[in-house]
Order: sequence, then C-alpha cells, then structure tokens
Amino acid sequence: MIPKIEIRSLSKSFPGPVNHGRVHALRDVDLTIERGDFFVILGPSGCGKSSLLNVVAGLAEADGGEVLIDGERVGRPNPQKVAMMFQEAVLYPWRTVLRNVEFGLERRKISAEERRVRALKYLRIVGLESFAGAYPRQLSGGMSQRVALCRALAMETEIILMDEPFGALDEQTRILLGQELVEIWSQVGKTIVFVTHSITEAISLGEHVAIFTARPGSVKRIVPVNFPRPRKSGSPEFQNLVELLWTELREESMKAIGRENLS
Ligand SMILES: Nc1ncnc2c1ncn2[C@@H]1O[C@H](COP(=O)(O)OP(=O)(O)OP(=O)(O)O)[C@@H](O)[C@H]1O
Ligand SMILES: [Mg+2]
Repeated sequence: MIPKIEIRSLSKSFPGPVNHGRVHALRDVDLTIERGDFFVILGPSGCGKSSLLNVVAGLAEADGGEVLIDGERVGRPNPQKVAMMFQEAVLYPWRTVLRNVEFGLERRKISAEERRVRALKYLRIVGLESFAGAYPRQLSGGMSQRVALCRALAMETEIILMDEPFGALDEQTRILLGQELVEIWSQVGKTIVFVTHSITEAISLGEHVAIFTARPGSVKRIVPVNFPRPRKSGSPEFQNLVELLWTELREESMKAIGRENLS
C-alpha cells in the first residue's frame, strides 16, 4: 500500500546571518508515515521541525529531496487534504472567533450553514463555544491556540500537521485537549503529524515517536509506542519509554545548545 506521507532525502537550508553562509536546517530526512498513524516528532529547538512541516504542507520548498502524499509529489498547499496548525496561533484580529474558525472553510467553498455547524462543533470540543463572538484581542494566549486548533480540526482533512499545538497551554488543558485529539483521531482515522518538545506528551499521544538530531535535523531513531491507551504516566512501560527517549534527546539537546562536551 502507498504510504500516506513519504519524505525522501529531504534537505532544507536558509540564508544565515551576514558572513555566516547558510544554515542547514534539515539534512537527508527520510520518513514514511502510514495512513492513520499518530506520528510524533520530538527534537531539540532549532532542529528543523517547523521547517519540515512547512515543506510537507507545501508552504516552503526543499533544497533537495521530495515529499509525497498519497504517492503524489507535494508542490503547493492542498487544503482539501492537509490542515496545518502553526506554532504561533495566527488569528485575524478583525474576525470573531467563529469567523476565524470558518476562514479555511470559506476558502473551500463550503456552505455558510455547514461552516457554522462545523465551527461550533469544534469550539464546543475545545470549550470555547461561549467565546464564538469574541475577538482575538479578548483571548488569552492559550485560548488563541485552542481557536487555532479548532480551525485545523474544522477542515476535517485526512492529514493534520501540528506544530507544538499545545505549547502555550497549562498542563491540565494540555492533557485534556490531548485526550480530545486522540478521541477525534481514533474515531475518524486521520493521519496526524505532531511536533512537540515534551517527552510525556509524545508518549501519551503517539503511535510512533521520531527523535530528531540537533541541526541539521535528521531522523535519529523511531520508537513505536505499543502499549494501550489511556497511557498512565506512572506505569512501568511509560517510565521505561521516558527513560529511553530522554537518553536519546538529551544528547541532541546538549549539541543544540553547543555544550556537547559538558555532559
Ligand atoms: N525563514 C527563515 N529564515 C532563515 N532561517 C530560518 C528560517 N526558518 C528557520 N530558520 C532556521 O532554520 C533552523 C530550523 O528552524 P525551525 O524553526 O525549523 O526549527 P524548530 O525545530 O521548529 O525549532 P523550535 O523547536 O525552536 O520551534 C533554525 O536554525 C532557524 O534559525
Ligand atoms: Mg518550531
């Protein structure tokens, strides 16, 4: 069967600071993500995770290599198939919460009634239904991020790319929304690619966790999470996996902050 997402020898660089040549964000990334996977990417800051999602979403071009979705090469955004949630909530200040959630659906020419029904459904799920008429300036950072989550979910695409979607949330909300996301994922069989810094979040949510190396980012190791949900963080399986992922990640995080000799 054709994989849902296939990333082949992908490299991406950016112009560096003046007199510093180029910054190599990603080098030879190879990944195969099957249909229906909840695939977590765990890596140190600056290892190219956001850059990778941008290329998969068709928002940025790679220097080399390619991304295939359902066997077709990605060259531009495909809102029918792929929704993306960015690391920073990007909301339109002049639109209400409801109309921010509806935005992507308007572009897909979905009827006004269907847009409203869908937007309200997902606002209810993230606990923001009563803020449907509010403007972004009236929201906290965490609330804005929930609106952005809603906007991605409301697209009801087969694939969702999520770049640290719960980064600005408090621990409790993060856990609850994670559970909601797993619920939606398991019911409708989406393919989710989820970037995080958090080892416990990766184990709670993922089916597979890919650990990335420090920049230039590439895949260091892929670990399956094969024990049943709900995954209790106190269980021995969970703790063993925390230990394993931490060992891998620690090494890369040390490199990322330029202190690889200090361990
Ligand atoms: N538009 C850009 N122009 C120049 N350099 C960039 C650009 N975007 C990213 N970079 C560089 O590419 C590298 C990877 O950045 P990226 O944002 O993909 O990392 P990340 O893994 O998402 O980091 P974080 O965990 O902090 O979000 C960084 O060194 C960054 O400075
Ligand atoms: Mg990032």
